[in-house]
Amino acid sequence: MKQLAVLLVLWSVANASAADITAATEPAPNPGTVLITGSDRGIGLALAREFESRGWQVIATCRDPEKATDLKSLASEHSTVSIEKLDVSDDVAIDALVTKLKDRPIDALVNNAGVTGGFEAQTLAGLDANEFSRVLRVNSYAPLRVSAAFLKLVAASKQRKIIAISSGYGSLASVEKIASYGYPSAYFYAMSKAALNMAMREFAFEAAHSQVITVLLAPGAVDTDMQRGIRERMSKMGKPISAPVVTPEASAHSMVLVIEQLRVEQNAKFLARDGSEIPW
Ligand SMILES: NC(=O)c1ccc[n+]([C@@H]2O[C@H](COP(=O)([O-])OP(=O)(O)OC[C@H]3O[C@@H](n4cnc5c(N)ncnc54)[C@H](OP(=O)(O)O)[C@@H]3O)[C@@H](O)[C@H]2O)c1
Repeated sequence: MKQLAVLLVLWSVANASAADITAATEPAPNPGTVLITGSDRGIGLALAREFESRGWQVIATCRDPEKATDLKSLASEHSTVSIEKLDVSDDVAIDALVTKLKDRPIDALVNNAGVTGGFEAQTLAGLDANEFSRVLRVNSYAPLRVSAAFLKLVAASKQRKIIAISSGYGSLASVEKIASYGYPSAYFYAMSKAALNMAMREFAFEAAHSQVITVLLAPGAVDTDMQRGIRERMSKMGKPISAPVVTPEASAHSMVLVIEQLRVEQNAKFLARDGSEIPW
């Protein structure tokens, strides 16, 4: 009888579909309130959809809500999604949003907004200081500024999590690996993500005094306007990038699982979307 039971279990495991296994092993949702920057398209929009589908209250911010058609549809279908205007390079606007949301604890703040910068401006032949300032402002300074401004609202929440979306480009240890996939040098983008890593790692230790967990999270190569821009450029140069991409939905799903399950011991770490650590 005992042998039959074991055989039945083995048979059911062998015949379970991948979806069954995912459903069986996936942690239960752990919803709260999330605020996401740059959520009108790409990874930010996918994160807004994923958080919403897992029961979170979503404050989806973007530069131009009027033009954010997909985000507006999401908000019109789900009362748990609200849209707020925020250009992350505008300090006054950041503070005004904190004031507007002053009674709303934020369980997870996701600093997602980012730019690659013009490619010509970050080649050795075309280095452009103005473009360097713009990329650093959006990718490095703004997440620190937004995190500083929202720290008290995050600290007032139950989950107390701050996430900055970084990139393998920001890993000093991964420069050769990224180049081996066919990705071009993108000096300003890479420098801005390395600076982001340093900023948020320093911030993580300070914010830990408020029991806030801060991590850097890399989404992987994701099929968005940003990734397509790099690939189109390399294809035109006759050097197509061969590395696979995942959909924004797949990347967002993995990252939301990591965010929901963040642990204190992961504070100040640089994580891949599966939660493994990326070397600095
Ligand atoms: N895609 C990838 O393979 C990949 C890989 C590694 C890391 N990442 C990182 O993932 C994040 C999202 O990238 P993505 O691929 O989704 O890029 P994307 O499709 O180009 O979207 C970028 C988002 O950032 C927003 N944004 C840019 N400047 C902003 C500002 N000043 N204020 C507010 N929002 C601003 C954009 O808003 P507008 O629509 O108003 O321009 C847009 O919503 C970025 O931090 C990026 O560096 C992406």
